Amino acid sequence: MIATTAHGIPKLGLGTFGRTGEAGIAALLAALEIGYRHIDTAQSYDTESSVGEAVRRSGIPRSDVFITTKVADTNLARADFMPSVERSLEILGVDTIDLLLIHWPSEKDAVPFEDYMGALAETRDKGMAKRIGVSNFPIALLDKAQTLLGTDALSTNQVELHPFLQSPKLSTYARAKGLTLTAYMPLAKGKVSEEPVLTGIADKHGVQAGAVSLAFLMAEGHVVIPASSNSERLRQNMAAATLTLDADDIAAIRALDRGERMIDPEKAPAWDD
Ligand SMILES: NC(=O)c1ccc[n+]([C@@H]2O[C@H](COP(=O)([O-])OP(=O)(O)OC[C@H]3O[C@@H](n4cnc5c(N)ncnc54)[C@H](OP(=O)(O)O)[C@@H]3O)[C@@H](O)[C@H]2O)c1
Repeated sequence: MIATTAHGIPKLGLGTFGRTGEAGIAALLAALEIGYRHIDTAQSYDTESSVGEAVRRSGIPRSDVFITTKVADTNLARADFMPSVERSLEILGVDTIDLLLIHWPSEKDAVPFEDYMGALAETRDKGMAKRIGVSNFPIALLDKAQTLLGTDALSTNQVELHPFLQSPKLSTYARAKGLTLTAYMPLAKGKVSEEPVLTGIADKHGVQAGAVSLAFLMAEGHVVIPASSNSERLRQNMAAATLTLDADDIAAIRALDRGERMIDPEKAPAWDD
């Protein structure tokens, strides 16, 4: 059984970026078989249909699987927002989305903040989404969102986090506000498996470095959504759910932070750290 956050998000989920088509469905089915019950997709990944199909084929009740999707930055304008969410519901083949996120804030405020955050809240009020949240939001925009929607409205801010990018300012802010961060790229795209400190800790606990990275991020209070198409690695990563790191492990992994950001497109906001 995977623990959940105060807002009911399972702390260990599955990323789906790049897992399209039949190969994607096969990877998702393998993950569901292993016990993953939280799946992260997005309008821009082209994986919403695979997610819906895999959940249906698995035979697992819809209510037992937590699905997150994200409104693309190209759909933030008033005229596009709601139709895009209706399309997501249709493509996923579900009545409601467990967690709906704004994928990226509107670049240079091309779409007014109040417009798309208001539309996001409306999806929750209409039952299209059970929970709402954001992704790639810096502190300044989180403050703005809390002023606009209330302090407990957002269930998460999904951002890049791994042992090489621990974002201490943002993490401290989120903890103080009771806002959970969801770590995307929690394996640094697999790079964690080549880091000697992590492999050393993994050997000590009889697991792989990926599980150490995930257990560390969860111990820091974050949700993790690693991706893999490989059954063996899906299983290795799931081991993080029952792995407890000691204080020495945590201190050694904290020291690996080097502010190494792997996703930083033109449209990115000014990051906090
Ligand atoms: N909100 C956003 O803007 C945003 C941005 C990026 C990502 N995301 C979300 O976050 C999810 C995770 O990020 P990600 O997929 O980019 O990166 P990731 O989870 O850090 O790494 C995935 C890569 O690591 C490999 N891998 C998996 N388990 C491993 C292990 N135990 N040891 C070594 N390598 C391993 C996988 O290859 P194999 O398949 O061969 O195992 C894959 O190439 C995405 O799928 C997506 O859902 C969100």
